Amino acid sequence: MQTPPFLDIGIDGIGFYVPQERLRLADLAHARGVDPAKYIDGLMLEEFAVPDYGEDAVSMALMASNRALLKSGIDPHSIDCVLVGTESAAYAVKSIAAILSGMLGISEHAFTGDLTHACASATCSIINAIGLISAGLIKRALVIGTDVSKYPIGSAGEPTQGAGAIALIISRNPRIARFSANFGKISGHVNDFFRPNGQDTAIVYGHYSIDAYLSFQQHAYDDLSRQIGPIDPNYWIFHSPYAKLPVQFFRQLMLRRKINDSHNTGNGSESLGSSFPSADQVQILKGKGEISCPDIQLLKNLDWNDFEICDLHHTIQQELRERLLPSLFVSRHFGNMYSASVWSQVMWVLENYARDGDVFYFGSYGSGATAISGLLQVQPNFRSIIDRPPIMLDSVRTREYLTVKSYEEHHENNCLILPKITLGRISTLPTEPVVTKNIGIQGISLSFCDAGCVLPHNKDLSYCPQGHFGRFNRFFPQSAKITHLRKTDFIDPLLEIAHNGEVPILGIPPVGSVVELNFRKLRQDENKLLQWAPVYCPVPSELVTEQDYLVEKIVLECASTLHRNA
Ligand code: HMG
Repeated sequence: MQTPPFLDIGIDGIGFYVPQERLRLADLAHARGVDPAKYIDGLMLEEFAVPDYGEDAVSMALMASNRALLKSGIDPHSIDCVLVGTESAAYAVKSIAAILSGMLGISEHAFTGDLTHACASATCSIINAIGLISAGLIKRALVIGTDVSKYPIGSAGEPTQGAGAIALIISRNPRIARFSANFGKISGHVNDFFRPNGQDTAIVYGHYSIDAYLSFQQHAYDDLSRQIGPIDPNYWIFHSPYAKLPVQFFRQLMLRRKINDSHNTGNGSESLGSSFPSADQVQILKGKGEISCPDIQLLKNLDWNDFEICDLHHTIQQELRERLLPSLFVSRHFGNMYSASVWSQVMWVLENYARDGDVFYFGSYGSGATAISGLLQVQPNFRSIIDRPPIMLDSVRTREYLTVKSYEEHHENNCLILPKITLGRISTLPTEPVVTKNIGIQGISLSFCDAGCVLPHNKDLSYCPQGHFGRFNRFFPQSAKITHLRKTDFIDPLLEIAHNGEVPILGIPPVGSVVELNFRKLRQDENKLLQWAPVYCPVPSELVTEQDYLVEKIVLECASTLHRNA
């Protein structure tokens, strides 16, 4: 690959959040009377994330953004643009970006807004951020993809649910990775997947949506390669509604590329086929490998011989194992995170596989439909940011499995978290020294009225529009120790935060436990006004210590699934 032009704009900070609760697809398959192999091999999925009560696109976006700020050591006041890509908006009118900027202490003079384009909305937001930075209108953007993917219980889409959020800080002189100067793009009015107003589950023409995905990914790739010539990245990362679909697209892409190359250079000269075990060859030529029976026939019509077809199979298999499978761990374990899907995979590959100078191809797809492709180049010393805690592997170790019954209750009742909350007092624990030089990210400051409504930081509007009096300022540290617990039958945690200096704590952890800042939706009043506020969650005592071993295991696990599939 010739070196394509890269911008000096890219990713300077990144943070991820996924709900702790998960559902195993084997359990779902048993409950639905489906062969578990259909979900595990047919869709290549293991489990998906289920949002807890009070956990939604806003609370997840707050967490991912807070983590991006912590990991990068960037002062929130220096951010002058917040763009949120989502299809899980909290309100029909009022942006998540405004809620985030107010709660995280982002500059009052920031541009803020949400952007909708199904799963491609975070990518569209990134493109906007790059444009605004290039034009000199902003210096640093916080871009978030946050979504809950939800289909009706018992529908074909049910096993492909999930939830999660990713936050990226985009600026000049990025310390993690820089973007290519060119992007591939394709858009059209396609009715593959949609969610009518007022409905919380999506409607999808499943098999048509697969065709739309395969076609648009191909067009976005072709458009980019027309602009920059041959593309040969170290890693391929595609939007992944379920892990099998990028694999299906990748096989198609590789096959087309090889057929095109052979038109230009001939295909017979480098065959190694005679050195493969003959049993393998028989299986490959029966269509049990990476190349399907119709494609084998197509190659034969183009005068490819058996050895050349076996060579091609092995090349595609190797590319798949080394360059595509690493990213697919994310959708196999967290499910479809819609707008967060492709960028969480970028973070996963950065954390677990990437080296300085590596190039990633990304193919973002959003139903409706659009696809956007581009390249990222990993910057020298990116590990100094990417390896700072919390890392994505922490989210793999800290999962809790739900029963199908309990998952169904979460799915049907969008209730608040109140029954799971205890009140307590906490003492602040110091955060990482690298971070504490920036005052804003040792914790967050919020103001409340005497009824516990969150008030804006903007001085002219420091009173409650609902007519409540008072204004209380509270600081919430990132990390703390419980010093006192109080169990009550009925609590309005927002009232208690404002008046008693207590904080809501998830569950009943023992006094002395370490807890960390999290967020939940805590109140919905008669006008459907929503309030999000801090809730402290226990920190799991087991930290990730066997990273290399685990990553190795993941690669093997993915590879063997693929093999079983073939
Ligand atoms: P389905 O129709 O129930 O499943 O739903 P199927 O019959 O097509 O089977 C799925 C695979 O399992 C097939 O593999 C079967 O052969 C295999 P393939 O032929 O595709 O390679 N299979 C088995 N394998 C082993 N053992 C068995 C067995 N049985 C079957 N016993 C569908 C599948 C994806 C349509 C459904 O889950 C769905 O509707 N999902 C939601 C929509 C979706 O994810 N679409 C993807 C493209 S659209 C997109 O990406 C955008 C999106 O993210 C939204 C946005 O942009 O905002 C969704």
